[in-house]
Amino acid sequence: MTAQSIAGPAIRVQGLVKSYGKLEVLRGVDFDVARGSIFALLGSNGAGKTTIVRILATLLKADAGTAGVNGFDVATQPANVRESISLTGQFAAVDEILSGRENLVLVAKLRHLKDPGAIADDLLRRFSLTDAATRRASTYSGGMRRRLDIAMSLIGNPPVIFLDEPTAGLDPEARIEVWQTVKELASHGTTVLLTTQYLGEAEHLADRIAILHQGRIIANGTLDELKQLLPPATVEYVEKQPTLEEIFLAIIGDDDPRDTAGTTTRNRG
Ligand SMILES: Nc1ncnc2c1ncn2[C@@H]1O[C@H](COP(=O)(O)OP(=O)(O)O)[C@@H](O)[C@H]1O
Ligand SMILES: [Mg+2]
Repeated sequence: MTAQSIAGPAIRVQGLVKSYGKLEVLRGVDFDVARGSIFALLGSNGAGKTTIVRILATLLKADAGTAGVNGFDVATQPANVRESISLTGQFAAVDEILSGRENLVLVAKLRHLKDPGAIADDLLRRFSLTDAATRRASTYSGGMRRRLDIAMSLIGNPPVIFLDEPTAGLDPEARIEVWQTVKELASHGTTVLLTTQYLGEAEHLADRIAILHQGRIIANGTLDELKQLLPPATVEYVEKQPTLEEIFLAIIGDDDPRDTAGTTTRNRG
């Protein structure tokens, strides 16, 4: 029951403004997401990532600006937008008492799809959950649960999927599992808008990265394009590529209170 695909970018955001009372969260946000790409919206905690996702998912109204998903306007065609998307957040919608397979079958039934069992088995295979299919979801690890949640959100083949901090709270191993899942999505042509606070996640997964800071997109490009924003180091003997973290910190300046301790730097030279 997928909304028909329409020409143009999968997501188009122009001049988006949103305040909560006196707190101006979005002050004119613009970006496009190409169909079939993985786009990472990178920003610190409280930057406004979830606010953007909620506006795009028609759960929240913007104060000004326009946003379109799959060619449909979020303000004037919300039903078409909802048919075009799925939203997976940090808080999994998985029913703990049901098995992984039962969760998937339930959603397929709710969407009135033919052959819910076959849909469930296909997704279990794609997300490497076949062995755990009949176990209660309460016995799953954090990474398995998040994978099941993403699999559930794919039922009905929405062309656009929003993953709002899909790896928040996961251990590194589970995070890598979810990354593989996201790559698997994109390889099937699904457009993925991913929000993250993890620079490495954006660097690893995304075709394009936009940095949201103080209510605006202050950088938007491929990783290589973002790297060009930094002047090359001329006096180093070993060629060292800047990490996204270095680019991020250089772009936003020194006013960001983020604690970057514990993150690793990397030398690709
Ligand atoms: N319903 C709300 N009412 C008031 N303030 C909100 C509300 N939702 C979010 N905020 C505030 O707006 C800012 C952006 O929030 P959010 O979009 O959730 O950021 P992010 O997802 O990037 O962490 C934060 O300062 C947050 O506290
Ligand atoms: Mg958020």
